[in-house]
Amino acid sequence: MKLRIALVTGASRGIGAATALKLAQQGCDVAVNYLSRADAAHTVVQQIESLGRRAIAVQADVSDYAQVHQMIETTVRELGGLHILVNNAGYSSHGGIEQLSLEEWHRMLAVTLNGAFYCAQLAVPYMRQAGWGRIVNISSLRALTGSAHSPHYATAKAGLLGLTKSLALELAPYNITVNAVAPGYTDTEMNRKSLAEKGEQIRASIPLKRIASPEEIASVIAFLCSDAASYITGETVTVTGGIYMR
Ligand SMILES: NC(=O)c1ccc[n+]([C@@H]2O[C@H](COP(=O)([O-])OP(=O)(O)OC[C@H]3O[C@@H](n4cnc5c(N)ncnc54)[C@H](OP(=O)(O)O)[C@@H]3O)[C@@H](O)[C@H]2O)c1
Repeated sequence: MKLRIALVTGASRGIGAATALKLAQQGCDVAVNYLSRADAAHTVVQQIESLGRRAIAVQADVSDYAQVHQMIETTVRELGGLHILVNNAGYSSHGGIEQLSLEEWHRMLAVTLNGAFYCAQLAVPYMRQAGWGRIVNISSLRALTGSAHSPHYATAKAGLLGLTKSLALELAPYNITVNAVAPGYTDTEMNRKSLAEKGEQIRASIPLKRIASPEEIASVIAFLCSDAASYITGETVTVTGGIYMR
């Protein structure tokens, strides 16, 4: 594969860290974005460098346009361009319609939806310049099923699917593909508490009878970022161990 430069948001741990490493194994130099865990991001950078690729850690809150602008400019200045954007940064929180604060509703949409839009808007000019680009938005099974306890999360993740299709249509003429990945239960910090409390019940409900590793999600994301996925755009790939069929 040609040298490609990738930015993975929320890459200090979990699915994002596994994706940054897979992209490096595929021959990419990688900007590793994080919110607050600088040490974790620097560990990912070292792991990428030990694979013989270049990497930088970039702090930015993706819900803040000015910080995203600075992150993209730093990536381009230090790594020399931008071809691949993985909008992965996210978090989960619970609260039904009567409990959820307005602040939490707005925060979830700001991180998940505004963040992906800001990153895409500022990254696309560099992809157009290169005549090649890949954007992968990390949605969730909850975008497709809804959620009885996190309407803000399910709504924001469903919004990402609309953004995915719209950008896929707009950017196809520039050889930029845009896809989404919708993971099911994955073994990361995000849902460690619910897995500890209800792990057995959750596993029993999954046809493959186990939780995904972050690497199993990352390999699908990395495929969509590769030349091998050149004719796939506007799609949502569910990676759920079969639970979406239930
Ligand atoms: N785990 C699952 O079961 C699952 C299922 C479906 C979808 N997903 C989605 O997959 C993505 C990754 O999830 P994960 O499970 O790997 O989560 P995780 O282990 O909790 O990691 C979250 C990552 O996002 C970063 N982050 C959080 N808020 C941010 C912000 N405002 N700006 C920039 N970075 C931010 C964190 O940075 P710091 O380390 O600096 O805090 C961290 O790198 C998320 O979008 C999530 O919704 C996960």
